[in-house]
Amino acid sequence: MFETMKPAPADKILALMAQFREDSRTDKVDLGVGVYKDENGDTTVMRAIRAAEARLHDKQTTKTYVGPQGDKEFCAAMGDLVFGNTVPKDRLRVCQAPGGSGALSILGMLINRARPGATVWLSDPTWPNHTPLLTGAGLKTKSHPYYDAATGEVLFDEMIEALGAAEKGDVVLLHGCCHNPTGADLTIDQWKAVAELCVEKGLLPFIDFAYLGFGDGLDKDAEGLRLLAKIAPEFVVAASCSKNFAVYRERVGAAMIIGATAAEADTAFSQLLSVARSVYSMPPDHGAAIVKMVMQDPELIDDWKNELEEMRRRMMQLRQDFADALRKASNSDRFDFIARQKGMFSRLGLSPEQIETLRAEHGIYIIGDSRINIAGLPGDGLDDLARKIVAVAS
Ligand code: LMR
Repeated sequence: MFETMKPAPADKILALMAQFREDSRTDKVDLGVGVYKDENGDTTVMRAIRAAEARLHDKQTTKTYVGPQGDKEFCAAMGDLVFGNTVPKDRLRVCQAPGGSGALSILGMLINRARPGATVWLSDPTWPNHTPLLTGAGLKTKSHPYYDAATGEVLFDEMIEALGAAEKGDVVLLHGCCHNPTGADLTIDQWKAVAELCVEKGLLPFIDFAYLGFGDGLDKDAEGLRLLAKIAPEFVVAASCSKNFAVYRERVGAAMIIGATAAEADTAFSQLLSVARSVYSMPPDHGAAIVKMVMQDPELIDDWKNELEEMRRRMMQLRQDFADALRKASNSDRFDFIARQKGMFSRLGLSPEQIETLRAEHGIYIIGDSRINIAGLPGDGLDDLARKIVAVAS
């Protein structure tokens, strides 16, 4: 069976994560995989999650099957978190999914059922797992310009021009906020222009929403998506709880459909549940049950919002401090864009060789496209880190 197979190419993010774990240097710095870290470099369980988990442990009386949609109350709470009251509930359908990746995957398969082999437009660059996830679902991908490495800004005119070549029925994948890997987000006016283009050309917006709360705050981060809901008659959203609830390994996410009509939403949703049933039958319950408990309890949700805000502010401060340290070390404004960008990631603009030198000589781990995880920056070692980076970059 497998004798003619070739080994699969390694996923760069996961490979770097494994390499970092095996490195025995005690002063190593992990700027690789996108997980939040506190000032001690730890990815801890959030307070509200820990409290809810203890309650669940005491309260849960059965582990029997839930169903392909997962927990309906979790789904309703996710719909509220993402949309507030901005979308008519009769056109919104939500299905729990195994993480944001699971949501991307089942939505990709749903689109493939509706329009086999449809083309999805991805930003250049995008999260490296988008392509395998979507092509694995049967879809094709094309890319549009997105990021200007020289300025750290979005190449918006070029993006719109490229999307001008998209055909009716194509899909446009947009990062809801905190673009991965660049940290460069669309402005609200740009969201409006993309939404109008999608309507005019008959394109389906597909939003990957993995960093809600990490950019400008919960409501502000959802502004683009909520505006889209006012303009586009139909679109889909893959939401993740991995980062903002810090439940990474529990695999908690949600796939959402906004249908043009309630009847279309029902039909598409029945197909989505059938996709889920055919792939994994039902999503894992544990993490979603905890997240639901947090979202339904006034005290826990307040505490979660406070801690999320602490995390967001810490990343913003690290951005500013690191940009300052790089300015000092390089005596230039070359890296100032880091302070302007949003969320967990920015790209330093280093070559793969320079990145390898940082890893080999200093134990500094950066993804090969020069993406750094802002939360992994050592708050008390920024000057030293900046000097090492500037030394290899010049
Ligand atoms: C990342 O981009 O580092 C995270 O989303 C983790 C992953 O699965 O790649």
